[in-house]
Amino acid sequence: MVNVAIMGHGTVGSGVAELLIEKNERIAKGIKSDINVKYILALRTFDGLSYSDKFINDFNIILNDSEVDIVVETMGGLKPAYDFVKSCLLKGKSVVTSNKELVAAKGAELIKIAEDKNVNFLFEASVGGGIPVLRPMVQCLSANEIFEVKGILNGTTNYILNKMIMDNMDFSVALKLAQDKGYAEKDPTADIEGHDACRKICILAALAFGKHVYPEQVKTEGITNITLSDIDYASSLGYVIKLIGKAKKSSDGSVCVSVRPTLVPKEHLLSGVNGVFNAVSVTGDAVGEVIFYGQGAGKMATASAVVADVMDCAKHLNARKYLSWEEGDENYIKSVDEKTKLFVLFTSSDFDKTLLDITSAFGDVAVIKNKQSGEIALVTNEELESSLNKKIAGIFADSKKILHTL
Ligand code: HSE
Repeated sequence: MVNVAIMGHGTVGSGVAELLIEKNERIAKGIKSDINVKYILALRTFDGLSYSDKFINDFNIILNDSEVDIVVETMGGLKPAYDFVKSCLLKGKSVVTSNKELVAAKGAELIKIAEDKNVNFLFEASVGGGIPVLRPMVQCLSANEIFEVKGILNGTTNYILNKMIMDNMDFSVALKLAQDKGYAEKDPTADIEGHDACRKICILAALAFGKHVYPEQVKTEGITNITLSDIDYASSLGYVIKLIGKAKKSSDGSVCVSVRPTLVPKEHLLSGVNGVFNAVSVTGDAVGEVIFYGQGAGKMATASAVVADVMDCAKHLNARKYLSWEEGDENYIKSVDEKTKLFVLFTSSDFDKTLLDITSAFGDVAVIKNKQSGEIALVTNEELESSLNKKIAGIFADSKKILHTL
């Protein structure tokens, strides 16, 4: 019998409790051992559930109970999650978490403690919700040198952008719907300003390249400045706007990481990732590009990944699973001048002259003209970003918006 304690009973924690308790037989069969949810730590009790007797509000009961082998952390945030998780690992308990903020900020340190104590610290649910991506990347792609990881990493913003694109829905109405469905963070600023996607790309980059990337090192931009008209212009030019997290390793070993609204060509697989779905593309030297796709948020999808980690921990109580990376450093993340195409939106009072300037700077590119608003939108040809920026500054002193393309 393996005893588990769950810390937190919000969207994910309640899903984990339901799955572990209601599907107990199936889970026991899968690991050839019974799993007993012994405690659920929450600020209040929840009456009327089949497991209402399990609620406690004192963390020390879990910490000091030597029968508890595995602790699940679904509280979110750093306080008190960090102290609780660290104490459990130091006590020799394995920990499973869905908390990307915790892993992105403190992953290297917690992994080291788990290694020293010969226990497991697993966090599959912290990236991509229910999509198996971290373990497959580390295990199934382990023969590869990975060069690039990129994708749609936040269900809430993808849901919002999708509603704006398909239903012409207002940003705030779409956000409210995502919150009602339990996709958004407690404070949805973390979703819409890109911080949640940033934490996830930090975790992916750390696993892919072996060194911690701290969220503060990542250039992060959310979707709050994206308007319905940007979406229309992008669509007319053959693109869909998505919030993309990207980590890329150059041949000199330097790593560049970003989160930003990005124009994805309509023919690219990522453009068809809709609603709360996420997709993570991994490029390795032997395998080429692999894409992992599935529900990136939501109660049972995320609980599915957490419970699989609990089962993995239960099967390996005395053996370590190797999901790890080393501490980062301040010079690790660089901004690299790469070849790219940029989307530019600006206003012009002299369309004819501006069109000539565009042709002379960028050659023959598709241009959308809106005579009513005086706006012009285009996607440049591919060039070094520094050179594109120089040209753009030379022609469009009053450019309204510049976005990257995939
Ligand atoms: N708020 C997150 C999202 C939840 O929308 O993707 C899953 O991490």
